[in-house]
Amino acid sequence: MDTIHIRGNRRLNGTIPISGAKNAALPLMIAALLTDETLTLSNIPRLTDVRTLAKLLGVLGSKVERTEAADAASLDGDTLSLTTPEILSTLAPYEIVSQIRATFWVLGPLLARCRTAKVSLPGGCAIGARPVDLYLKGLQKMGAEITVEEGYVLASAPDGLKGAVIRSPIVSVGATHTLLMAATLADGETVLENAAREPEITDLARCLIAMGAKIEGVGTSTLRITGVKRLHGATHTVVADRIEAGTYAIAAAMTGGDVTLTGADPETFEAALSVLRAAGANVEAAPGRIRITRNGERLQATDVVTQVFPGFPTDLQAQFMALMTIAEGESEITETIFENRFMHVQELARFGANISLHGDKALIHGVERLTGAPVMASDLRASAALVIAALAAEGETTINRVYHLDRGFDRMEEKLGACGAEIWRVKA
Ligand code: UD1
Repeated sequence: MDTIHIRGNRRLNGTIPISGAKNAALPLMIAALLTDETLTLSNIPRLTDVRTLAKLLGVLGSKVERTEAADAASLDGDTLSLTTPEILSTLAPYEIVSQIRATFWVLGPLLARCRTAKVSLPGGCAIGARPVDLYLKGLQKMGAEITVEEGYVLASAPDGLKGAVIRSPIVSVGATHTLLMAATLADGETVLENAAREPEITDLARCLIAMGAKIEGVGTSTLRITGVKRLHGATHTVVADRIEAGTYAIAAAMTGGDVTLTGADPETFEAALSVLRAAGANVEAAPGRIRITRNGERLQATDVVTQVFPGFPTDLQAQFMALMTIAEGESEITETIFENRFMHVQELARFGANISLHGDKALIHGVERLTGAPVMASDLRASAALVIAALAAEGETTINRVYHLDRGFDRMEEKLGACGAEIWRVKA
């Protein structure tokens, strides 16, 4: 397995282009199952999760064509053209679905288009129990019959899906994506109440509208979808990755220096930017251009509670914890979205961080400095936290299990390297 090596204690200076959002690209690719015409998606990040999903879509009947940016040296995204003239298989196998949770979301489009689907229960990052009850209850409300047998969800709607009012007891990104896609081809009106309103949901909704879907309430927690008989092809540009942008903003604050993020929309991660300001970073934010600087003064301990959008995202919790390890004072981080998302704590301790866990809270007592160490990535966002700690630590860090990073961060070594980080990969 590859390892990433970082020699830390260097300031980051430069410009980092932000890629298309993984969490938008995946549902957008899945939306291609809803039409027999071509869906063309640009600004697709270069990630293993994208490749894994493309493999699954190929199994289901999609032709996936990838075009790289004309300038090979650029960090621009790819363009994918996805065409699914007919669904060749309604079976999404364990071997693929267990690798990324989002592949489970094919359940909605398969059921809507073919009236039947057999989809393995999902896998993905080990950050909590992550049940799928909300997806299944929602589809049942739309008339689907569902059983779970031998690790697979078996769903059928012989007379087609019907519009329904679905109120979710908790906000779920994945259930909202799945039910939204299913509802576009259902008979009648579906209302999704207490829907997720993350920017990636809005991006999917906009693409579905471009494909001919009728959706009202985009960007709010009530989505009203009037089913249509068929959707058509469209072209769409994937929204910028607010989690990648937030990660590099935190990295810039961690090391001091002066970093400008291009292509990202500050409104999509304002909660993270305002916490960075509170911690002592200078943030100048304009659409498409965000500059983060920090003068020589020490960061200040700042408390954070993870929340659904527009609150502070759980996907930046680990990275922010890494930042707080060297802040002055004690900060409290409360994780409200996933019950087991503190796996990075024991790895951060290897750098000399002082963190104690109390249920859903982590107390971080800032230390003067971190030192490099061999560490292991436990999940996608946690691995970014290790990179951030390593960038500020004295000495060399070796990060093992970097396939987690490759799942979600497009060409991270190039982007950080261009800003002066000493970072390199050793291929296995
Ligand atoms: C998505 C994101 C992930 C992010 C998370 C929360 C993608 C590919 N992944 O994951 O990066 O951390 O949103 O912003 O976009 N839940 C249930 N029952 C369900 C579904 C969810 O109890 O049927 C719970 C989950 O266990 C969790 C909470 O709801 O505690 C939120 O999960 P959800 O929003 O569904 O996360 P994902 O869609 O898996």
